[in-house]
Amino acid sequence: MCGITGYIGPKDAFHVILDSLKKLEYRGYDSYGFATLHEKRIHIYKDVGKISNVNSGYLPGNIGIGHSRWATHGGVTKENAHPHLDCHGRVAVVHNGIIENYQELRDELTRKGHIFRSETDTEVIPHLIEENLNLGFVEAVKEAVKKLKGRYAIIALSPEHHGMIAVRKGSPLILGVKDGECYVASDIPAFLDHTNNVMYLDDNEMVIVTQNDLKFYNVITWEEVKKRIVTIEWSAEQAKKGEYAHYMIKEIMEQKDTLRRAINQDDNEIEKIAKSIAEACGTFFTGCGTAGKVAFTAEYAFSKIAKKHVNYIVASEFPNYHHFLTNETLLIAISQSGETADVIEAIETAKEKGVKIISIVNVVGSTIARMSDHVFYINAGPEKAVASTKATTAQLAVIYLLAYASAGKLQEGKKNLMDLASKVNDMLNPRYEERIKKLAEMIHAQPNIYIIGRSINYPMALESAIKIQEVSYIHAEGFAGGELKHGPIALIEKNTPCIALVANDEVKDDVISNAIEVKSRGGFIIGISPENNEVFDYWLKVPDVGVMSPIVNIIPVQILAYHLGLLRGCEIDTPRNLAKSVTVK
Ligand code: BG6
Repeated sequence: MCGITGYIGPKDAFHVILDSLKKLEYRGYDSYGFATLHEKRIHIYKDVGKISNVNSGYLPGNIGIGHSRWATHGGVTKENAHPHLDCHGRVAVVHNGIIENYQELRDELTRKGHIFRSETDTEVIPHLIEENLNLGFVEAVKEAVKKLKGRYAIIALSPEHHGMIAVRKGSPLILGVKDGECYVASDIPAFLDHTNNVMYLDDNEMVIVTQNDLKFYNVITWEEVKKRIVTIEWSAEQAKKGEYAHYMIKEIMEQKDTLRRAINQDDNEIEKIAKSIAEACGTFFTGCGTAGKVAFTAEYAFSKIAKKHVNYIVASEFPNYHHFLTNETLLIAISQSGETADVIEAIETAKEKGVKIISIVNVVGSTIARMSDHVFYINAGPEKAVASTKATTAQLAVIYLLAYASAGKLQEGKKNLMDLASKVNDMLNPRYEERIKKLAEMIHAQPNIYIIGRSINYPMALESAIKIQEVSYIHAEGFAGGELKHGPIALIEKNTPCIALVANDEVKDDVISNAIEVKSRGGFIIGISPENNEVFDYWLKVPDVGVMSPIVNIIPVQILAYHLGLLRGCEIDTPRNLAKSVTVK
């Protein structure tokens, strides 16, 4: 899940591309590269390392492409960095996704005498295009695409064509349009400084970009496709860090506002989908990573609030459940980016069975949003830190609205959520952050941190572990409190930190007992709870919001993870080995 970008216009392409790649860094950050067209020649530069550290260099030309990599095929080397060229430097390609049949294509091209310089799957693309360059660049790209299997977004350029060609199948690709200029990118923040007028490329579509013209074609039927311009509400300011040191802490603090924006949904639509859930023959919630833990929370929220059974299945496992899907089933897919490959595949599996698709998404116009029969946007604004924070609580808010509507109590649910949002507003203050920072100083050298939660807070115990793992690289694990005695308690040693998520609910005493069991084996108990308790060695107060406690309980853990990562010198916004949106399976 790399970041790819392209530009044509009056500006220096190199500087436009450099700036765009820095804005796409959260998509992949192990190596980078540029290629520009100037005086009928391709100029190329690529290297290992983070694009955010690049502040010099230059390539001539007003047309260019760029790439920031998250390695899938081939190690992190200069040769494997993109763009990739054909044998004679007449075609340059950047790619996001995976070419599944690259090995057979590579063997076939090698037999024809092509010389490969890298270990990547991507490099077959410029060589395939080279094969038919005599037919003209457009035809050559068309022929090459016919041979590719997998998920991909590609941008290619050649001196044969004064412009660039972009193709999409499975991985996101968006155009930013402005008079006499065109930006192509994996994600909107890449060009939000220049324009918020966008055009979306759909699957199996190609766009031929020249200085003053855009031609869209379906690459299967080769019919021309009409596209409309959509104006995005996001502002470039929203996509900046502002006075914060990192996107993560900025996005955590933005929850003062994002919760209210998420609650601001159309009542009729919420009621309509609640009715669909009531009528459905099985409702499944799904997602990956953090969004998956939100989907898991839905199972508890519907049980507790609406006395209704819904299923949670992690997206990468969802295809195993296709036996149970019918055209009376409902799938509710949760995704911040709207581009996660495993969620897209779950939706494709469900669609094959005629399942109705509802999605809860942040990125407007994203693939998952456009695949859905109905989409609830969480209105959180751009989320750039790889570790998801504000999107988590916004997704949870929409889940609760649906659960309350399913219980016929939507207005009560909205009121409770609005009250919660103002309590979160009060909670997110410098004194609170300082208290968590002090805790981080006490435990940041610990090799392991465990989190226990029961009932509706069990999924957030799992999410807490993800947050701490992602940002601080500390081995963290979340458990259902009741499971502790059946194995994990063996891991507890003197001073082992254990976070207990303790809400004022029917399992409060059980979680406290679990905390006592851990403490009696030397554990250091961190209580996240509306009330203090003698078993807590460190208490982080949260407002008492009843069944909605998961929303407030995860916020201090987000702040803790941030400060643990800072104290351990980690790359907060771009943690190693991760990426913001996983567009490969
Ligand atoms: C991971 C992100 O790559 O994908 C996580 O690092 C996120 O933060 C997960 O939860 C799922 O992403 P999305 O966009 O589908 O919510």
